Amino acid sequence: MTSQQTIELFEQYVIGNYTRYPVSLVRGEGSRVWDAEGNRYLDFFPGWGCDLIGHCPPRVVAAVRDQVGRLIHVPNTWYTEEQGKLAQALSERTGWGSRCFFCNSGTEAVEAAIKLARLNGKPGRYKIVTMTNSFHGRTLGALSATGQPKYHQGLEPLLAGFNYAPYGNLDAAAKLVDAETCAVLVEPIQGEGGVNLPPAGYLEGLRQLADENKLMLIFDEVQTGMGRTGKWFTHQHWNVRPDAITLAKALAGGIACGGLVAKPQFAEKLRPGTHAATFGGNPVACAAALATIETIEADGLLARAEQLGAAFQQRFEALKGRCPWIREVRVKGAMIGLELSVDGAPIVNQCLQRRLLVNCTHGTVIRLLPALNLTDRELDEGCGILEEVLLTYKTT
Ligand SMILES: Cc1ncc(COP(=O)(O)O)c(C=O)c1O
Repeated sequence: MTSQQTIELFEQYVIGNYTRYPVSLVRGEGSRVWDAEGNRYLDFFPGWGCDLIGHCPPRVVAAVRDQVGRLIHVPNTWYTEEQGKLAQALSERTGWGSRCFFCNSGTEAVEAAIKLARLNGKPGRYKIVTMTNSFHGRTLGALSATGQPKYHQGLEPLLAGFNYAPYGNLDAAAKLVDAETCAVLVEPIQGEGGVNLPPAGYLEGLRQLADENKLMLIFDEVQTGMGRTGKWFTHQHWNVRPDAITLAKALAGGIACGGLVAKPQFAEKLRPGTHAATFGGNPVACAAALATIETIEADGLLARAEQLGAAFQQRFEALKGRCPWIREVRVKGAMIGLELSVDGAPIVNQCLQRRLLVNCTHGTVIRLLPALNLTDRELDEGCGILEEVLLTYKTT
């Protein structure tokens, strides 16, 4: 089918809740994708952060092929080796003896975290402090946690008990804590909010606030986890240990998989009957996640994330001197934000015309979440295109 034929199918049969580019993709490999017409694109935003180790990573493809031939799905009334091994692999990498609950997406992982916080807050404590500009997902609990009114519009009333403090402001977070508060939920680096890095001492300060008030500290690592910024989990860059983290996106190398990873003393409150997900922790997703972890380790991709970060930073800092609309360059590993003083949408469109895929968030932040196995040549090629597009951008 041509892209146009596929678009016509969507226009007739698919609910229009997404803004889509007029391209139908049919194949991917590493940091490249191809459309139905055979055009090749360089992808600096593979899978919105899910394809952390590139499109169709060979170990994940092999693991999934093998697993679907043996056992595709069984419910959580049974034990499966793959789920147990994945929980162990994550626990070993958090370094705090954690236990896991598995689901299928980021928003579900956040829902599980909200329930865990409330169950641990009993009796009487149910409120959760989250941050302005945050993004935690689209189901109504996670949406209520999301501190952005534009996503709430028309969907009220939201779940009660969420209070938003400006990201980075410890005093404001402390002022929101009262006798009914049970948790603080924060992205260690805000992703959708514009690649906002935490100020020095912020995450540690939240830890202290949580300790002083007997709150759970939960980091939403759906976007930042699994090696994206050069450590298995982004909070590991700082001297801080949360009580729980949420994962999804890159967890299974592009296969749907989410997880809540929590310290055992909190995790034990999720007992039979409190929570469940039919597909959660299915053997295919878990086999894919194990192959993702194996790939990151075997190919030295944590170190590669750091290298990529340094290379992008250098390149864009140099560009900033020549390009009047770059306000700030924000980089942590393979998580890159270019804050512009102009609308970023035309830049995304011009890059697409030049067959480079990038993202714009919050109107003015060009966001890149490249695959960790992006090659130096691909980095050079993509940065070259983006630089030309930025330098020739007309504000009028
Ligand atoms: C930090 C964070 N949490 C939660 C979510 C929701 O994830 P999902 O779209 O898989 O539900 C996202 C998605 O972008 C995210 O960035």
